[in-house]
Formats: sequence, structure tokens, C-alpha cells
Amino acid sequence: MFDLIVRNANLPDGRSGIDIAVRADKIIEVAPRIAATAGTEIDATGRLVTPPFVDPHFHMDATLSLGLPRMNRSGTLLEGIALWGELRPTLTRDALVDRALRYCDLAVSQGLLAVRTHVDTSDPALVTVEAMLEVKHRVAPYLTLQTVAFPQDGYYRAEQGVKSLERALDMGVDIVGGIPHFERTMEDGRLSVQALCRIAADRGLPVDMHCDETDDPLSRHVETLAAETIRFGLQGRVAGSHLTSMHSMDNYYVSKLIPLMAEAQMNVIPNPLINIMLQGRHDSYPKRRGMTRVRELMAAGLNVSFGHDCVMDPWYSMGSGDMLEVGHMAVHVAQMAGIEEKTQIFNALTVNSAKTMGLAGYGLDKGCTADLVVLQARDPAEALRLKPARLAVIKSGKIIASTAPRSSTLNLPGRPTSVDASDYAPRL
Ligand code: FE2
Repeated sequence: MFDLIVRNANLPDGRSGIDIAVRADKIIEVAPRIAATAGTEIDATGRLVTPPFVDPHFHMDATLSLGLPRMNRSGTLLEGIALWGELRPTLTRDALVDRALRYCDLAVSQGLLAVRTHVDTSDPALVTVEAMLEVKHRVAPYLTLQTVAFPQDGYYRAEQGVKSLERALDMGVDIVGGIPHFERTMEDGRLSVQALCRIAADRGLPVDMHCDETDDPLSRHVETLAAETIRFGLQGRVAGSHLTSMHSMDNYYVSKLIPLMAEAQMNVIPNPLINIMLQGRHDSYPKRRGMTRVRELMAAGLNVSFGHDCVMDPWYSMGSGDMLEVGHMAVHVAQMAGIEEKTQIFNALTVNSAKTMGLAGYGLDKGCTADLVVLQARDPAEALRLKPARLAVIKSGKIIASTAPRSSTLNLPGRPTSVDASDYAPRL
């Protein structure tokens, strides 16, 4: 007797007709037609059952603040940073907590159960840090929130940037952040990478930097980040977020850079929605896409995971907490439309991002935590195409969100009376 069995599931690795049996908060068995019964049974009817979506790069302190105190008129990254600087002095802990909790509700409804958020440490009052640590504690029963100390205005460039970042870490922030391309000079950027990696080594923390979020092909802080990772013995614990300058770099240089990044076992976190929206803004035509080299990085064995980055904030007015929207954009911008490539993209929203975040007990194997999402789609490719309903979201063996299957009624003479968008697999 189990507590829960999800029956007749398709798994992301292509297995079908699989039952998943859960006792308490653990997956006990994964096999076809499990004979035992359970207190709760869910018939997945041949739909995809996946471990939850994981967002390895987000800004929970800025989310849902769209329009405060005004809209980003140019739509650029730099006006977004300036606009956030206008909003920041007016932020209160209560308002930050309220917006973040609302976002987490949305995330849970989309099957997104782990988020790494960068938390701006530029204002020495650190209200953002206090608020996000409170949110982390409050959502812990249903959503894993990791925090990154993020010196948005520059580690060296902001007046008390160095001290504020250290204080944020003292307060319990999990990860060391950075923004080398936003320091005053290339040299300051390089020095900031060195200093921040040293802090991470001394404190035994991971690193996750906004790195080279620019179209400038000579913005090469990723090289320093990889080299310092190796020098401090931080292999596998460092993430390079964005890395958009790699899009514009010289190919010969990249042929040397990618093996260095692989040697450093760097986790790579592109943010497709935000990269396609904010990069290439100084181009006329042709316009660069500005996303890093996903296919080549994956081929070199680097762990690539995609972040949502922003939802309705000074940088991005759209977004819905749906990682499949992120993956949908990634398929287009990276031009990875093959069936296996779509599975790679899907993995970059799930298993790869869980690896980036170092999540324990993640996955669909026996002994993993029973965190599952049942989708109204047959397989990863269809999930990316449809961004379908999350029929059930299960956390530690309990259903914490559900959505009715999407179906439309049709009133057309001689045609079917309803349409289910997930029933449009090619009829070969
Ligand atoms: Fe970001």
C-alpha cells in the first residue's frame, strides 16, 4: 500500500506506460503496472510526468514591480538598471515580501518548485536581503529558494558595494554574485571577479555572476571567471549567467574559451527571453540575437540551464512564471528544433538547472523526493510547443496545485464538438 501512485506516465527520457509509487515524501518504485494500490491514484493517461521545473536565474526582489515608479521607455538594460535605482529607495520589506509570495504562488501553479534569485545588495540598508530571506523561509515547505548576493550597481562601482555584499553573506545569503561588465573599467571587472571568487573560496560558497551581459565581443570576463574558478579549486561550483558577449565574439577566440570553461566545469545560464529582448539594442540591421552559444556549449559537455530572469519588472514587461515559455524561446533563438535538441532544451529547464542549483533528491529515480508535475502533453517536444496545463503539481508526495485540462467547445456544423490542443500529434 502506497500513499500515492501516478499511473500510465510518459517520462522525459522516452519511457512510457510507467507507474510511479510514492510513500510519504519519497519515490519508492518506478515501473510499468505496479500491482499495489494507494490512498491517492492519478491516471496520467499517457501524458508527460516530469520532475518539477527549476529556474536557476531570477530576480525575486524586482518581480511584479512593473510600472513602479514608471515604465522603461527605451526598453534597454541600462534604463532598466537606472529605473530599478529610482524604485529601490522606496522599497519596503512588506511590499517586497508580498510581491515575492505572489510570484511564488504563480510559480507553484506552473510546476516551478525551485528558484535561484539574485538579490540586489547595492543599497546598504539591505531591505531586499531581509525580505528575500524571509520569503525563503516562508516558502520553504513548497518551493526551494536560493539567494545570490548581487551587487547590481557594481561591486567596486557602488559606494559601499564591497561592504554590503559581505554583510549580505553574513546575513545568510547562499551564493556570491557579481557583475564585472558593469564595473567602471575592464580592469575593475577583472579584479571584481578575482575578489569575489576569493570570498567564495574562503567562505565555502558557490559563485553565480551576471557575466558579460553585453554585445561587446571584447567583454571577456568569462575567461577570468573560468581561470579563477580553477585557481581557487571551485570547479563545478561556479555559474556564468547570461554570457551574451559570447554571441558576438570572434570564433577563434571562442574555440579556446569553451574548453577553458569546460575545464572549470562552469554552469552556464542563458536567459533566452531577456537576452532576445535586451541584446542587440545598438544594432540597426541585421540585429544580433545576443544569446550565448547554447548548442556549442552543450556539445562541449558544459551544464547549460535556462533562467526566466525577469517577470514584469523594470527590465521585462512580460513573463508568466512558466519555464516552458523560456524553453519555447530557447528553441527558436538557439535554433534547436530537432526532437533530441528539444529534449536537451527541456532538460535545461529541469535536470540541468537542478544540477546548477545542486538540488539533492531531485529526479524520477527510486529514493528521490516525490516532486512531480503531470502535464497535458505527451512528451518534452509537445510540452515546449504547447506550454500545456499543469494537470497536477506534487510536492513531497502531496498535490499542491492542479489545473483542469484545457479543452475548447466547437460549434461548427459537421465538425467535432470540442478541440484538445494536446491531441494534435501528427497522424502518420
Ligand atoms: Fe539577471
